[in-house]
Amino acid sequence: MNIKNILYLLIIFSLFLFLFGIIVYIISLIYSSIKGSPYVPTSKKLLKKFFGEIKFKKNSFFIELGSGDGRILRYIAKYYQINGLGVDINPILVWFSKVYSWLENVNDRVKFERMDAMNVDLTKADYIYIFLMPKFIKKLRLFRIPKTTFSPSTAIWTVLLFSCLII
Ligand SMILES: C[S@@+](CC[C@H](N)C(=O)[O-])C[C@H]1O[C@@H](n2cnc3c(N)ncnc32)[C@H](O)[C@@H]1O
Repeated sequence: MNIKNILYLLIIFSLFLFLFGIIVYIISLIYSSIKGSPYVPTSKKLLKKFFGEIKFKKNSFFIELGSGDGRILRYIAKYYQINGLGVDINPILVWFSKVYSWLENVNDRVKFERMDAMNVDLTKADYIYIFLMPKFIKKLRLFRIPKTTFSPSTAIWTVLLFSCLII
């Protein structure tokens, strides 16, 4: 086999790998939608505007349900001394979150887990952030959970796709 053939094989293999990656990613996005909410990342501009103005308590604990690529937790871990847990149903997004948090050197403060938002223990959260479909948020029944389930000062934000509610 000469160098030209090896090069062709390498190109075909890389293209195949690239296509395979795209197909897996698309399937994971469909899976996210079926399980509760499609993946729609918060824009970086909105993220800075929204979270840049909040005075977080030092060393508090932040939980994000449906954390996507982890951009919110990574942002607040970088700019505030906050610890956090991000859960998402989509394993590919959880993997990206872990890689990015490692690259940004915040992996000692924020953890990401593949988990259904319905099964998360919220008792230790000081802040909860949710950006999911309204129908799924209703299913979570967060606002019907007795207050004692959260720590007394837990703040919950939900972004109902186009509106934002702060409690
Ligand atoms: C609208 S996106 C928000 C992403 C991220 N929070 C952000 O603001 O950039 C909703 C996320 O919820 C995740 N999701 C959907 N159903 C879920 C479920 N049952 N449990 C946990 N996460 C879920 C999706 O994979 C997706 O990443």
